[in-house]
Amino acid sequence: MQVQAASKAYHFGRDRVRALDSVSFSVREGEFVSLLGPSGCGKSTLLWAIAGLKALDSGTVSLDGDPILKPHPAIACIFQEPTLLPWRTVAENIAFPLELRRDQRDGSKERIARLIKRVGLEGFERHFPKALSGGMQQRASIVRALAAEPSVLLMDEPFSALDPFTREDMNLLLQDIWIETGKTMILVTHNIEEAVLLSDRIVVMTPRPGRVRKVVEINLPRPRTAEVLTTPEVFTLIAGIRRAIAY
Ligand SMILES: Nc1ncnc2c1ncn2[C@@H]1O[C@H](COP(=O)(O)OP(=O)(O)OP(=O)(O)O)[C@@H](O)[C@H]1O
Ligand SMILES: [Mg+2]
Repeated sequence: MQVQAASKAYHFGRDRVRALDSVSFSVREGEFVSLLGPSGCGKSTLLWAIAGLKALDSGTVSLDGDPILKPHPAIACIFQEPTLLPWRTVAENIAFPLELRRDQRDGSKERIARLIKRVGLEGFERHFPKALSGGMQQRASIVRALAAEPSVLLMDEPFSALDPFTREDMNLLLQDIWIETGKTMILVTHNIEEAVLLSDRIVVMTPRPGRVRKVVEINLPRPRTAEVLTTPEVFTLIAGIRRAIAY
């Protein structure tokens, strides 16, 4: 995935808000990269552009050299708010993207059943979203995003509405899924610890207009646990990232 000189401004009346200013970075196949930055620095704008859901003013996004100008079947998204359809059961929600695409690949039922079990939602297939906790809804969103076997998973603060304990569980689950599936993942977050726990690299952005301030490699062995965040080495790393965002 390659983002090259991505720029975007929003206009309303005579006002103009520059959201992104010439952002460039690339993500290797199978890599986990986080986009980290303060509120309003253009992270969602950037992720939506990568998803093909928002046009840039200038610059390009490409996957394997193909420009992304509209939603791409190999790219799936998970958003901040659970976006399950309230009138469909968990199982029906998960099958929805495949239905839209008339994708009747062999084995998709079995694959979905495995994923549902993997995220601990077995037994809830026939429940409606309102009968699920926020964490369970995001688990269902993860399964829905993975059901069509994308090669890239984009996530926009998927756990920010969850309590800290559930969030930690979800981070560890996401790490396991990343290790098991080998998918390319791009996570938008303003949580430094979450980014350190999950990422191969963190793209640290400046306040608006979002630019790339620096890219930090996280060379910690996996699987990582929450304890890794409390070692002196990682503490120093986190403090360095915090300073990079603040200056
Ligand atoms: N549809 C829109 N119309 C006008 N301005 C917008 C629109 N979407 C975003 N903006 C502005 O662009 C800037 C970047 O917004 P964006 O949502 O990309 O930031 P963000 O980094 O995702 O913030 P947060 O961490 O709070 O989600 C903000 O100043 C916002 O007000
Ligand atoms: Mg956002």
